[in-house]
Amino acid sequence: VSEPPATPVRAQILVASNRGPISYALGEDGALDARRGGGGMVSGLSAIGSGADSLWVCSALGDGDREALRRGVGEPGVLMLDMDPDIHSAAYNDIANSVLWFIHHLLYQTPLEPVFDADFRRRWSAYESYNRAFARALADHAADGAAVLVQDYHLALVPGLLRELRPDLRIGHFSHTPWAPADYFRLLPDDIAEQLLRGLLGADRTCFLTRRWADAFTDCAVRVLGEDALTGRRIGVHGLGADAGFLKERSHRPDVAERMTALREQIGPGRRTVVRVDRTELSKNIVRGLLAYRQLLDTRPEWRERVVHLAFAYPSRQDLAVYREYTAEVRRVADEINEEYGTDGWTPVVLHVKDDFARSLAAYRLADVALVNPIRDGMNLVAKEIPVVSDEGCALVLSREAGAYEELAADALTVNPYDITGTADALHRALSMPADERLRRTERLAAAATALPPQRWFLDQLEALRAL
Ligand code: G6P
Repeated sequence: VSEPPATPVRAQILVASNRGPISYALGEDGALDARRGGGGMVSGLSAIGSGADSLWVCSALGDGDREALRRGVGEPGVLMLDMDPDIHSAAYNDIANSVLWFIHHLLYQTPLEPVFDADFRRRWSAYESYNRAFARALADHAADGAAVLVQDYHLALVPGLLRELRPDLRIGHFSHTPWAPADYFRLLPDDIAEQLLRGLLGADRTCFLTRRWADAFTDCAVRVLGEDALTGRRIGVHGLGADAGFLKERSHRPDVAERMTALREQIGPGRRTVVRVDRTELSKNIVRGLLAYRQLLDTRPEWRERVVHLAFAYPSRQDLAVYREYTAEVRRVADEINEEYGTDGWTPVVLHVKDDFARSLAAYRLADVALVNPIRDGMNLVAKEIPVVSDEGCALVLSREAGAYEELAADALTVNPYDITGTADALHRALSMPADERLRRTERLAAAATALPPQRWFLDQLEALRAL
């Protein structure tokens, strides 16, 4: 692992995460294009701002980022670590996004089974090196007694490692994912399960998005490490909400209006719209969502020609074969539905795969129904953003396995994500909901969704650390 570039900063507030706020794409003409990082974690952390005494330590993720480092291009307040690409790939793709992501989202199912062999052990060593590199960089750049907020499953070992290097620091760890039930977590080899838990408990505060994930974690810690594991430890719950001010302003810019015009043309006059926006991710359950929509068209023919499903499924983690296969399956099922039911003037599923934030916001504003049906999800910010942005009210079909369920269940139509028939019924009820009821529910959803905006979410954690 190469050393981070020397920087004089000794920061008072540090954030550490695999993905940073900006990543760079390298164009064919050699130009670097800066893009905002995707996913809920980056959205929440943007509240750090770019104060003179704060530093966000993240990893260079691809050729564009590495080229930016070579050219000395960067953002103020952001330190990108230049990891050996093999170490990064093993830590990020093979351990974090395969094993740990799959454990916490319960994605292992025959024939997709966990494999803990010699290759796994080699990759685990890379994961350790990766975590050590972050711990060293944080230790080098933190002022005396600084607060360090470490993010997510990529960096589960960092709190423990950093505590050894710098006992003076206040360390928090935040998991943006669910936490697995103890029996499932214990699929992991015993020594690794222990190491992960001890790593996280190296933090002064180990935090989660909901009480449910926090309880699962404490249960694991007690089962794996014993009754005393939690003595003197603080487990926090901070439910991240949507940023109403930002979303309202951003969704009323001209580029969003342009996208709305284009989408309206694709939808056609007088039709209802079911919207989903996700990274193409197994846990998001996109295929079952499409199958539920197909069942709706099949069993309730009155909706044919009268509804369009806008499915935005943005490529994610394409280095991994299971993600590539899942992406292909999403496309295949969408095509099948269009072949089976489509007519000259009606395309039942409009699938967009090119990530375009303005177009996502345009769809949020137009949606009559939002479909958010993950198998499991730490929070799911889309469920919270749509009610805030919606122009005329939007009925929310929501999985009971999303963290957002705890805050939004009262005004959503909730589903078991595995139940395709139940989801098809919920889509029908959502599409049939009277306009005034939809609007009232949307207003209440928006209020619940914005209860803890990102700035507050971030400051609460910081204050809690400093109060120790
Ligand atoms: C989830 C994780 C984040 C991650 C995001 C996008 O929200 O909790 O840590 O950044 O997905 O995934 P990616 O692998 O592209 O960073």
